Parts: sequence; C-alpha cells; structure tokens
Amino acid sequence: MKIGVFDSGYGGLTILEEIRERLPQYDYIYLGDNARTPYGTRSFEVVYRYTWQCVKKLFEMDCQLIILACNTASAKALRSIQQNELIQNYPNRRVLGVIRPTAESIDELTKTRIVGLVATDGTVQSNSYTLEVGKLFPDIEVVNQACPMWVPLIENNEHLSDGADFFVKKYLDQLLAKNGAIDTLILGCTHYPLLLQKIKHYLPEHINIVTQGTIVADSLADYLRRHPETEQLCSKGGNIQFLTTESSEKFQSSASIFLKKAIKADHISLD
Ligand code: DGL
Repeated sequence: MKIGVFDSGYGGLTILEEIRERLPQYDYIYLGDNARTPYGTRSFEVVYRYTWQCVKKLFEMDCQLIILACNTASAKALRSIQQNELIQNYPNRRVLGVIRPTAESIDELTKTRIVGLVATDGTVQSNSYTLEVGKLFPDIEVVNQACPMWVPLIENNEHLSDGADFFVKKYLDQLLAKNGAIDTLILGCTHYPLLLQKIKHYLPEHINIVTQGTIVADSLADYLRRHPETEQLCSKGGNIQFLTTESSEKFQSSASIFLKKAIKADHISLD
C-alpha cells in the first residue's frame, strides 16, 4: 500500500518534497488535478466532489493513507470525507489534511498573539483557520487575507516575473492594513512557498513566515509512529509516481521547474 499526496495542481509538490525528505522509505503517489485547478475560487460542493473523485482514484491505486496537501480541499472536503465516505465505504483507509498541524504549530511563534493568514478565497471563506486556531489557542487572533491571483500566477509559471510583485505587495499591504500587530504569517496555501522570496521582500522583517512542508512532514511521521497498524501496511520501496489530470508533458515541464529536477509523470483520467 502507498501513501497518496493530493493537490489541485503543483502546490502539493512543496509538501511532497518535505515528506520525502523526512520519510524517504515509503512509496508515494502524487496526484495533481491540474485540469481543474484552481480549486480556491470554487464552491464548497464542487471542491468536495472533485477532491473525493481524486481520493477515490488514489484508493483504487492502493493508497492506504492520503494527505490532502491542499488547504482548500482540507477546508472544504476533509471533514465530510472522513465522516461520511471513509466510515461508509473505506473504514480502514485514512485521509489527513494540512490545516490542523499548521494551526498547532503557531503557538510557539507568536508573541503578539495576532497571526496573519494568506490563503485562497475558499480557505478564507471557510473560516477554517480561525476556527481551528480558536479551538486550540483561544487567545490568538487570526487576520485573514484572500490572495486569489497567487495560485494562477504560480500555475502559469509567472511567479518569478516582475508582474507577480504587484499582486504580492497588494495582498500583503491589504493584510497589514487590517492589523499591523501581526508577528506571524501563515502561508495557508501549498502553492505559496513558490512566492516566498517576493513575500519576504514585501513583508516587514520581524514577521515570522510559516510554510507547511516541514510541519506536515513532521505530523505525518508522528501519525505513522502512533498508528503502527497503518504504518505496517505502507510499502517501503522509496518510489514515487506522479499523476496528473492534465497532459503529462505539461505537468512534467512545470513540475520540474518547481522541483528543480526532471520527473516523469502520467496522465490519469478520473472517469
Ligand atoms: N494549493 C491549494 C491550497 O493549498 C489551492 C490551490 C487552488 O486554488 O487550487 O489551498
């Protein structure tokens, strides 16, 4: 059985990289739903339907455990998948998200107890970070900022262009105008580490930036340690297979820019 890593597009590769560095022994399948990205502007219902289709496909391909390496899918689909689909149809499989481990990590970072969140429209509208952080640390305030242009810039490989600066600065300025006492910024979208250099450039230096790769990798390692019954089912050949709902050539050329190495991908149809 393998470990599945799912994202609407290329963003989950930033999580996969860290997971594979931390846990190189397992076999992984990465699935990017590039044909239907971005998810961030889509309704609850649509994100749920798309995510479940992809998760089901990964189950059919023998994934025991799937990480939704996508905040939008974690915000809009994870709970229903866990509470309905898994219980009824796949009681022995597991699906984990990225929001809970990220929320758990911020307590140690913030002194002002005011934390910024940049994310897709969908994640912001779901209010998931405010709720999750509120449950764990009621004294921490989360200031939300949707950044709807960032994922399209990244998916179109324009994130290093001069044009990207305009939208990076625009959303960070809007966030800081809401509350200037933020001392920690959560990059609540797995695509955003690709904009990290520009984000650092436009953000005051004293603000901690939280990326999710290491956090999710540590949390998965911890999960596997606490659940030997799942861990024992995971095969350990150190392999990775890349799948995309778009053309494999397109995925290969963009993914290799993000991963800084050539990869081979296969097209997959969800029908
Ligand atoms: N990478 C996804 C996330 O973490 C979202 C990208 C999208 O809008 O599809 O939210």
